[in-house]
Amino acid sequence: MKKLFAVIGDPIAHSMSPVMHNDLFQAYEIDAYYQPLHVKREDLEVAIKGLKAIGIAGFNVTVPHKEAIIPLLDELDPLAKSIGAVNTVVNENGKLIGFNTDGSGYVRGLLEELPSLQDKKVLVIGAGGAARGIYFTMAQAGVVQLDISNRTVSKANVIVSECPFDVQSEVLNMDEAEKNLGQYDLIIQTTLAGMAPNIQELPISIQHLKAGSFVSDIIYNPLETTFLQEAKKNGADIQNGLNMFVFQGALAFEKWTGIFPDTKRMRKIVLSQLG
Ligand code: ATR
Repeated sequence: MKKLFAVIGDPIAHSMSPVMHNDLFQAYEIDAYYQPLHVKREDLEVAIKGLKAIGIAGFNVTVPHKEAIIPLLDELDPLAKSIGAVNTVVNENGKLIGFNTDGSGYVRGLLEELPSLQDKKVLVIGAGGAARGIYFTMAQAGVVQLDISNRTVSKANVIVSECPFDVQSEVLNMDEAEKNLGQYDLIIQTTLAGMAPNIQELPISIQHLKAGSFVSDIIYNPLETTFLQEAKKNGADIQNGLNMFVFQGALAFEKWTGIFPDTKRMRKIVLSQLG
């Protein structure tokens, strides 16, 4: 029988995951289908019970359910537990097991463009859910310094204090981040500033950036944020948010099927959707 996969969220209509995963099922000749499912916050518990009852093979979880789903699952991967968020669920013999491939997807995507993270001084801008996964995964990646700045500094403090991995780290406010930008080899922009429709917005000004540094933004709508455009003008190498999206999907696909898929193919499909 055809296996069913899904993504649950609210809103969900614009998710590019269905096109990406259905294309992969076809490419690898897997008899499966991936369906977007609109699940409202108040319906999450009953929706999970329903998905389990119909024997769903696996699913992705997106906004606003990544945290709320945790107590509804049978088991939790340790990294997802420490991050406190799940984006991928695998049904293993009737047990729903939660994973987080957002942070690991980010780092896998980054390594495509920046082969070594050893000795790198890194700044993460933002302290929301995405930043937390990225921070925890980067903390294990061998960087020499992993600083974090956020508009609400207390949220950055929580991430640093709850990170289960040892890494040299300082918490900065946005003014300090702006002034000290020249210290960093890698800057990771995870805030919502610059996302459509507020595309002119910058989380911090970039004038002190060091030429030759690497600047990455997890936003992919627009593909090149104003932050990345400014960074490029200042001599930085840049990476947009498409890599994180593609690699979190690739790692989810691998958990479901055992196959690590062709990420170039995935990128092409997503780009064609973005028009
Ligand atoms: P996500 O899951 O995408 O990380 P989130 O958890 O809502 O989303 O986090 C949003 C992040 O973007 C936070 O770091 C937020 O800063 P605050 O913690 O101070 O709210 C940041 N953010 C949102 N809008 C911003 C803006 N206009 N300028 C700077 N930071 C912004």
